[in-house]
Amino acid sequence: MTAQLEAHDTAAPAAQWHAVCPYAQLLRERGVAALVPGAGQVAVFRLADGSVHAVGNRDPFSGANVISRGIVGSRGAVPTVASPMYKQVFDLTTGRCLDDAGAALPTYPSRVHAGVVFVAVPAG
Ligand code: FES
Repeated sequence: MTAQLEAHDTAAPAAQWHAVCPYAQLLRERGVAALVPGAGQVAVFRLADGSVHAVGNRDPFSGANVISRGIVGSRGAVPTVASPMYKQVFDLTTGRCLDDAGAALPTYPSRVHAGVVFVAVPAG
């Protein structure tokens, strides 16, 4: 399976994929927090369309690891999450804060394989 995962990896030449949780554990429009080696806490979201997005769990405004508990929404076609602390909204695809151009969450490639959610972290 690892070789196949690497063959499908278009995210980065040397990304390391980590299994996070079974896809069936993710609720629609909700996030979960996972500890991913090399990335720390990652917030993984399942959207209404079934897609999965992974961003850093740490809210840059409060410093708290709460993004996974944020409110999923959208601005236009952009899927977003609003921090449960001070309500800043982040683009789930790029990590950019839509309320403050100077802030962003790290983003991580993610995919579902054999019913398991994987998140990629750049190697090295
Ligand atoms: S074989 Fe490509 S993601 Fe599983």
